[in-house]
Amino acid sequence: MIKTIKTLTVGALALAGASALSLSPAAAKTTKVGLLLPYAGVYAALGTEIDKGFMLALEQSGMAGDFKIVREDTEVKPPVGLAKARKLALQDQVDVIVGIVSSGVLGAMRDFIDGAKVPLIVANAGNNDATGKRCSKYITRVSFSNGQITRPMGKWMYDKGIRKVYTLGPDYAAGRQMIEAFSKAFTAAGGKIVGSDFTPFRKTKDFGPYLTKAKAASPDAIFVFYAGGEAISFVKQYSSLGIKKAVPLYGAGFLTSPLYVKAEGPAAEGIITSLHYVPTIKSAENDAFVKVFKAKHGRLPSEFAVQGYDAGRTLVEAVKGGASGREALAAAFAKVSYNGPRGPLKIDPATNNVIQNIYVYETVAGAGGLTQKIIGKIENVTDAPNGCKF
Ligand code: PHB
Repeated sequence: MIKTIKTLTVGALALAGASALSLSPAAAKTTKVGLLLPYAGVYAALGTEIDKGFMLALEQSGMAGDFKIVREDTEVKPPVGLAKARKLALQDQVDVIVGIVSSGVLGAMRDFIDGAKVPLIVANAGNNDATGKRCSKYITRVSFSNGQITRPMGKWMYDKGIRKVYTLGPDYAAGRQMIEAFSKAFTAAGGKIVGSDFTPFRKTKDFGPYLTKAKAASPDAIFVFYAGGEAISFVKQYSSLGIKKAVPLYGAGFLTSPLYVKAEGPAAEGIITSLHYVPTIKSAENDAFVKVFKAKHGRLPSEFAVQGYDAGRTLVEAVKGGASGREALAAAFAKVSYNGPRGPLKIDPATNNVIQNIYVYETVAGAGGLTQKIIGKIENVTDAPNGCKF
């Protein structure tokens, strides 16, 4: 009985929505979107994957024709990202910018976005400050914050008996913030950080000296953040240099992303990390998403695909709800909430950062190659406002 009523209500709402759409002049208007991603450089694969997820959401909505997309490449360089954001907002006059992979690029763009009052849906970059002390009502993040990903691992690893950890990460905002959040939580739980290094970002090819130094400190575990091309090099060298035999490796789950874990090969097996999405999540929403993504691209989606998809869905929901123009879109993005492939997704009204589950997973060998075995789940992880005032 309850089910029938629910179905009816949803059906009635959909009908009401459809007729409102066809009647309202706002719905007929094209929404101009600046898709600002790295299509070159160390995070190029991530940008391309976000693009795929974003386009899938628009196609699935049946409203793809209502959006005009202008693509620009940040090249993972903060000054380039800022220049492209200015071009999209001022010259192309986009209604919204979607994308941004690097925390460094987001940090460089933040004041421009806020001042120009152009809404931004962040589809990756985890820079804590963008939803903390430098938050803006024009910035809504559907991906994650850096602290949100690694903070839960501090207690989780301590509870597993790990007491001494050595940390490594790239020397830029994301590396610093991911490692800081983990280290704070791990020491608060009672653990000790026995050493730490930050490697030159986009420049380090040889992680050998850092890995050798880490091993010499005799930690119970190494904890890292690396992503994209750097993750592949790091994981391979961790194994080939024999460090894998001596010290277990933990980290933020981008390290062994399904997007490039194949390139890492057996070196990735046994690594334990935390992340907001893995394709092995069991739910009707994720099953459906995996199915359509696989049918289109012939492989499983990664966290980057889901972030693009949820950015697209956030935009579609806002436009479907009648939002048009920069101010209305920015306000509508912050109100989006639904059950998606990663689980419940809700925008925190105190920060405009997403509230979501964090999964701990081990990369294991499966029948079809490496796969993600979920071994822990921390629900509804929320950041403190950290000085955010709208
Ligand atoms: C970031 O710079 O915020 C960043 C980049 C790549 C990731 C995660 C975070 O996989």
